Amino acid sequence: MDYTQLTPFPRGFLWGASTSAYQVEGAWNEDGKGPSVVDLHIHRAEGISDFTVAADHYHRYREDVSLFAELGLKAYRFSIAWTRIVPDGDGEVNPAGVAFYHRLIDELLSHGIEPIVTLYHFDLPAALDDRGGWSDPATIEAFARYAGILFDEYGDKVTTWLTINEQNMMILHGKAIGTTGRSGQADQRTIYQQNHHMFLAAARAMALCHEVLPGAKIGPAPNIVSVYAASPAPEDVLAADDWDAIRNLMYLDVAVRGTYHPLAWAYLTERGIAPKLREGDAETLAAGRPDFIAFNYYSTQTVGASRGDASDIQHRGGDQQIVRGEVGVYRAAKNEHLPTNAFGWEIDPVGFRTTMRRLWDRYRLPLIITENGSGAFDELVDGVVHDPYRIDYLRRHIEQIRLAISDGVDVFGYCPWSAMDLVSTHQGISKRYGFIHVDRTETDLRGLERSRKDSFHWYRGVIAVNGLDLG
Ligand code: BG6
Repeated sequence: MDYTQLTPFPRGFLWGASTSAYQVEGAWNEDGKGPSVVDLHIHRAEGISDFTVAADHYHRYREDVSLFAELGLKAYRFSIAWTRIVPDGDGEVNPAGVAFYHRLIDELLSHGIEPIVTLYHFDLPAALDDRGGWSDPATIEAFARYAGILFDEYGDKVTTWLTINEQNMMILHGKAIGTTGRSGQADQRTIYQQNHHMFLAAARAMALCHEVLPGAKIGPAPNIVSVYAASPAPEDVLAADDWDAIRNLMYLDVAVRGTYHPLAWAYLTERGIAPKLREGDAETLAAGRPDFIAFNYYSTQTVGASRGDASDIQHRGGDQQIVRGEVGVYRAAKNEHLPTNAFGWEIDPVGFRTTMRRLWDRYRLPLIITENGSGAFDELVDGVVHDPYRIDYLRRHIEQIRLAISDGVDVFGYCPWSAMDLVSTHQGISKRYGFIHVDRTETDLRGLERSRKDSFHWYRGVIAVNGLDLG
């Protein structure tokens, strides 16, 4: 629907930006930090930067936070590295790691920037992985304990928490992201048992947060996108519904309602990969309720009915590591209405609005976008990055937030990916997302100097007028 008058962004809207610990911090083995599965990412492609130095934020966080303040951020969404706090996942607490996040949070607060903390963003402690990782229910206990440590330490400073970043992407694309650890890729039954254990861990963290920090809010942070049918053929629409349930709604139904989405459960049962539920699991899931839904949005997906053969399968933008389509469930289709970015990802701002509307319609919980952006090959020319493509992408997505707000959706914050350049999950530092350029290449660390991109100045202007003028 078109509007003659749009509803403004609410006062106090959280204009923010995002990062994750292992992609930005570096110092991967300093001050007592233990290794995580992504530090050891054994399936990383040749010639791609590892995470040992990343953007060196661990050593330069003061300079970075002062740039975030200049940018005008109201919120900064980042993750805490489990392995800095508890190096082996469930043993001794590492005081130096705890102290680092106190310094970072204090720095943010001193600039009036609200910290939004993700408990766990892909970086499971390698020591836990060695003992079975998420296959072992002991990891649920380790996570609940770790969450409790964070609530105790930072609970008087942090009021907005996120449980697990993109659990659905870890389940669907774990090998590419590097979260499957040394096992490489387990069978589907094991993967969905791990999924179930992560659901329990997140539910425990939500219940604990409410118990010990009554003033705080907590929610999940999956990757959620509208799924379109490739055509109006009823079979395509049915396949889109199925895939929506398996890819998106399973994760939100368990988090919000404490139960598996029936279609998703039917899929798991039909394939013989349904997790085993232990006594007490249903009660644990029911006891963990979110206060809001955080979600990451990059692009939509278009699917058709399965043809029952290999033609169902595609690779996103030719990326051999990201498989789409599943024989007997759905066929991956290209959406001819959407342009793609340099990495073959479809760009769909309107799909962002439909995603927000669907989430609000189904769950009626306030929404915050914790990632949104487009990877690009930036060029530093005479010390400056001109990135009109980034501005264009973000502007067109912010426009859709305002439209969704006008549609009646409760959206309270927007944290694009990423606050500053960082190392992509599996495509290196050359794939950039930040407002702040970090001078390094895949193989040459250069000086790691920071500089403001054109998008930095643009986003600063947007925040200054609370999104009323998008430039
Ligand atoms: C999300 C992750 O999947 O997308 C981030 O939460 C990630 O960690 C981002 O970096 C962009 O993906 P990529 O593969 O381009 O780094």
